[in-house]
Amino acid sequence: MTLPEELESRLTAALREVLGRETRGDVTAAADLRFGDYQSNAAMVLAKVGGQNPRELAARIVDHLDLDGLATADIAGPGFINFRILPQAYAARCMALLSDPQLGVPATGTGRTVVIDFSAPNVAKPMHVGHIRSTILGDALCRIARFLGYRVIADNHIGDWGTQFGMILHGWKSVLDRDALEADPIAELLRVYREVNAAAKADPAVMDACRAELVKLQSGNEDNLAIWRQCVNLSKQGLGDIYDRLDVRFDHWLGESSYNDRLTGLVDEFLERGIARTSDGAVCVFSDGSRPPEDDPFMVHKSGGWTDNPAIIRKADGGFLYATTDLATIEHRIDQWKADHVWYVVGVPQTLHFRQVFEAARRWGKSGDFRHVAFGSILGEDRKLMKTRTGDNVQLVDVLDEAVERAAKAVAEKNPDLQGDEAAATARIVGIGAVKFAELSQNRLTDYVFAWDRMLALQGDTAPYLQYSSVRIRSIFRKLEASFDVAAARITLGTPEELHLARLVLRFGEVVPAVIDDFRPNLLANHLLELARAFHSFFEACPVLGSPEPVRSSRLALCDLTSRVLVTGLGLLGIRCPDRM
Ligand code: ARG
Repeated sequence: MTLPEELESRLTAALREVLGRETRGDVTAAADLRFGDYQSNAAMVLAKVGGQNPRELAARIVDHLDLDGLATADIAGPGFINFRILPQAYAARCMALLSDPQLGVPATGTGRTVVIDFSAPNVAKPMHVGHIRSTILGDALCRIARFLGYRVIADNHIGDWGTQFGMILHGWKSVLDRDALEADPIAELLRVYREVNAAAKADPAVMDACRAELVKLQSGNEDNLAIWRQCVNLSKQGLGDIYDRLDVRFDHWLGESSYNDRLTGLVDEFLERGIARTSDGAVCVFSDGSRPPEDDPFMVHKSGGWTDNPAIIRKADGGFLYATTDLATIEHRIDQWKADHVWYVVGVPQTLHFRQVFEAARRWGKSGDFRHVAFGSILGEDRKLMKTRTGDNVQLVDVLDEAVERAAKAVAEKNPDLQGDEAAATARIVGIGAVKFAELSQNRLTDYVFAWDRMLALQGDTAPYLQYSSVRIRSIFRKLEASFDVAAARITLGTPEELHLARLVLRFGEVVPAVIDDFRPNLLANHLLELARAFHSFFEACPVLGSPEPVRSSRLALCDLTSRVLVTGLGLLGIRCPDRM
């Protein structure tokens, strides 16, 4: 049990005695540590319901509270109950963590399956920095959910069947440079795409030719299918290299094309069951009137009134759409994979799409906890959408190259002793870590500015600061002459700095599950920053190796716990720690 859970159970017992019935008392972290570690507004809430004086009720509750060995309680303001955890309770819990591989994080996901749909770039188009957010966020959610005990299925739903293939096929047959394709497939496919795209804009005849290629592909023409297959495979290899550099893995790559065979039957079923109907030749899902219009994804407010805003699942020309594939994908995830939850890590612009798809799936009887984990944009230092000098989208590979290059310089300045392979490996860990942390320490919904100097700084809210903190702790252990048996250490918390460090170490078990409540890895990122700052204050105020026993062992144990939380926490964010830097 985490500390707030333990307090809640004791509070609930007191409420049972005072009120004579079962009432759950909620306990949250205190907003201000001067008043205590945790607090409850139960007395205020219950007094209001029963028409009582909240402070009097709080006093009766506190009288019945058995906090023996755990905490003290007092009443503040209009009737808050504040809890202060006893140092010996913090110490005992820290000692329990010394041999706990989960570091106090409860298995809140046991027995549940979650599919996480993230990254999902479009084939033969470059992966750009917008996909970086999805990739980094999604990967962090996978790691955190696994740590919480969920059965996690990471699925890369790549866009491998889009209209871009009309252009690629036309370009493949007319302007492809085979040598360039051999040397750098992704770059060559991108060049072809861009060249044909520009030509098609200028010349309607080229546009028609591209459309014709697309129709041939979709109707099963063998030549076009063969080219398509090659493009997809080449793109997957290129993507695989990027994911390796990012240390991101998927269990499946079921792209849009995997569901081609299911689309006809799906639309028929929707028609038969009356979930969709034909309108102007197209098959559409309309509102079923079961929700108020402001809540209804199939209604839109336009020129003073509510009008239909259907989701099209088959065009009048017979073509299927993004929504059709997403419905087929849901069916697979629910029926085959038995998913309880499906989390889609996709940008804000697709909000309406997912609201419609989730609602259509619900009416189809595919029940699950579907969530759109939306995120904002990445801005350049000029606060505009990040673009290259030529106005193109910035490519993810270029971002990674630059991050590692800049990190190499920073690492060389910081520690000139690092040489050769070790220096290169450290630069990779620091550079990639910095990019990931810049993403994960932000609220996902806000746009954030991609500022190289800020994210690579050794001081400040950065990954290098955290990595450096962990390196510093490790170096303490390197100085030990004899091996140190951490698990046997007795922890005592004699100074305010030790107490605060212990408090934050223990909060790890509360913060990690809370990330999943609203998909906010930034809660964890910020907790790690707070922990590192607490460590540095502790380290300044409290000598470790120079202290006599038993203080020395107790402080070493605290150092060990801090380092494990930092390394584990960064690991949950997909960020590694170097041995030296
Ligand atoms: N390929 C899409 C894009 O780049 C993202 C796909 C997200 N996943 C999904 N099931 N729709 O915008």
